[in-house]
Amino acid sequence: AFPKHLRLFEMGARDGLQNEPGAVIDTAIKIELINRLSETGLTHIEAASFVSPKWVPQMGDASAVMSGITRKPGVTYSALTPNLKGLEGAIAAGADEVAVFGAASEAFTQKNINCSISESLERFAPVIELAQANNIRVRGYVSTVMGCPYEGEIDPAQVAAVSRELLDMGCYEISLGDTIGVGTPMKAKRMLEAVSKQVPVAKLAAHFHDTYGQALANLYAVVEEGIAVIDASVAGLGGCPYAKGASGNVATEDVLYMLNGLGIETGVDLNKLAQTGHWITEQLGRTSGSKVALAIGCK
Ligand code: HMG
Ligand code: MG
Repeated sequence: AFPKHLRLFEMGARDGLQNEPGAVIDTAIKIELINRLSETGLTHIEAASFVSPKWVPQMGDASAVMSGITRKPGVTYSALTPNLKGLEGAIAAGADEVAVFGAASEAFTQKNINCSISESLERFAPVIELAQANNIRVRGYVSTVMGCPYEGEIDPAQVAAVSRELLDMGCYEISLGDTIGVGTPMKAKRMLEAVSKQVPVAKLAAHFHDTYGQALANLYAVVEEGIAVIDASVAGLGGCPYAKGASGNVATEDVLYMLNGLGIETGVDLNKLAQTGHWITEQLGRTSGSKVALAIGCK
């Protein structure tokens, strides 16, 4: 059955901007994006990523972004923290929530965070412990849940196993990442079926990239099975034009339009969101990746 309410987790400022090619985007633009997103009714905004600036130069100003935003009461501002160094930075900058990120694929884990799956879990343990000691909730991402750019097919049982480990280690929610957007609806249902045997659906989120144009269909499939948290990126921001297989998260505007049509409440204002999407695409000199934003225009 469909949920009555659904939480949108906005990824534009982090997943959306981390791969932007060319010059590093001004800190002031990132801050204004987050401040504008805060006025749309969104309650969860991923604001930054405390990772190595050598690996991800676009996120090198994470501290300045996280400490520069105007905190809207009721909004949770989160950050990625792959290790203790990242967590210490996030705490110092005032992150409300943090996230560790692993994957169901060994090869992807190596490429992304430079260690094996089991090493990644060992690294996350003290991160989760220290965050909890500071009363900061930890989210867990599992990437490559429907396919890997290096390994191809991924066994849903492997997705379930990594998800279960992260839950048992203390993550309050597990976000299932179709990192390269290769999933299709039946595959999404089968993956969810396997994972939900290990982790209750109420503790799962869907994080689908739209590389093959399947993200909305896949979301419909998993929302029908009770998924009530969706990660999405305003204007479909994200993806690197130079990296085959990498494209943005599904556009938040498009997800919201679909949810509105299904009568599922989110508390988010579509027009305000579309205006924010319009603003950031102008700043970046891009066209919006949201069909809905293009259709309704900007008032
Ligand atoms: P490493 O090289 O193995 O780590 O990188 P290290 O501990 O050996 O440190 C190497 C250098 O990095 C040192 O600096 C550290 O100080 C520095 P040096 O001595 O060479 O000058 N360093 C850091 N600097 C700042 N902040 C930190 C930090 N940690 C180490 N936290 C590491 C390991 C994880 C750091 C690296 O591989 C990394 O930063 N990877 C980035 C991965 C990333 O950001 N990927 C994108 C986000 S995940 C994603 O997008 C998927 C998701 O959206 C879900 C989905 O779509 O599937 C979440
Ligand atoms: Mg992602």
